[in-house]
Amino acid sequence: MVTTNPAVVTQNLTKIYRDFWGRPKVVALDQLNLTLERGEVFGLLGPNGSGKSTTIKLLLGLIFPSRGQATVLDRPAGDTRAAEKLGFLPEESYLYRFLNAEETLDFYGRLFRIPRRSRKQRIHELLDLVGLDAKARKRPLREYSKGMQRRIGLAQALINDPELILLDEPTTGLDPIGTREMKDLILLLKKQGKTVLLCSHLLADVQDVCDRIIILFRGRQLRLGYVSELLQDRDIMQLQIRGGSDSLRKTLEKAIESDKSAKLIGVSHPTNTLEELFLRVIREQTGVDEESSRQVG
Ligand SMILES: Nc1ncnc2c1ncn2[C@@H]1O[C@H](COP(=O)(O)OP(=O)(O)OP(=O)(O)O)[C@@H](O)[C@H]1O
Ligand SMILES: [Mg+2]
Repeated sequence: MVTTNPAVVTQNLTKIYRDFWGRPKVVALDQLNLTLERGEVFGLLGPNGSGKSTTIKLLLGLIFPSRGQATVLDRPAGDTRAAEKLGFLPEESYLYRFLNAEETLDFYGRLFRIPRRSRKQRIHELLDLVGLDAKARKRPLREYSKGMQRRIGLAQALINDPELILLDEPTTGLDPIGTREMKDLILLLKKQGKTVLLCSHLLADVQDVCDRIIILFRGRQLRLGYVSELLQDRDIMQLQIRGGSDSLRKTLEKAIESDKSAKLIGVSHPTNTLEELFLRVIREQTGVDEESSRQVG
């Protein structure tokens, strides 16, 4: 039997930023336990400052945990052997402003020691994939619009054909067409068997592409699970009935099965949008935090 290990495992992963004197200032991430299966698209959600980018930086080994640990592609986070198989689109791309798109990708292709011929081929494919046309490819990045910067950033993240792709706000600055293309691209990556970890505030988009999500708040996990399951409203039961009359509707509350002309087709729970779920859990939590601070104060 072939078993594949998860792409990412974190155990009590915690990051505390300290002030100049070494005193704890912010608990940016609080005991995160997360497992990303290979081939899934996973959404990291939460309001501003909830620890999403911190999580990504910890997985990349750009910063170190205060407690706990993370394993990425079977190696400790930050290990170079895993880094070779990672792609990363940061919140803001810091690419060389005087290079054009082809030169930029050539530079990163060399870093990954991709041989010249396959490098050229790969650069062409990637620029097609992210939708940068022949004219745009020759312009220096300092002249790029926000959306174009996002596209070249993504191409750069994919240059090494990574197994795990970490995307921090990939659709920022993209127009609706670009956003649609980005979503299609994420689904294409999934089809190719890649694992994608995605941070985004655009919940409708997350709902469209993610298999599972986590909602973070002040570094803590509020919800974790399959989008389809999380969006079911378990407090409400929905009955689907074919046929029946007004009078039936009145007697329904008493007994459905007793009416011969009506047939119970299915019982399900209505689904929320991810936006509704998100706003509800954050509001609930804000209420809890206010209540406990009143009790303390
Ligand atoms: N280098 C740093 N030094 C001190 N505090 C930091 C540092 N980086 C992040 N923080 C704090 O850690 C917390 C989490 O920040 P993080 O950037 O992970 O949030 P985020 O969820 O990505 O937010 P956003 O949606 O705004 O991108 C915030 O309170 C932030 O102020
Ligand atoms: Mg962030």
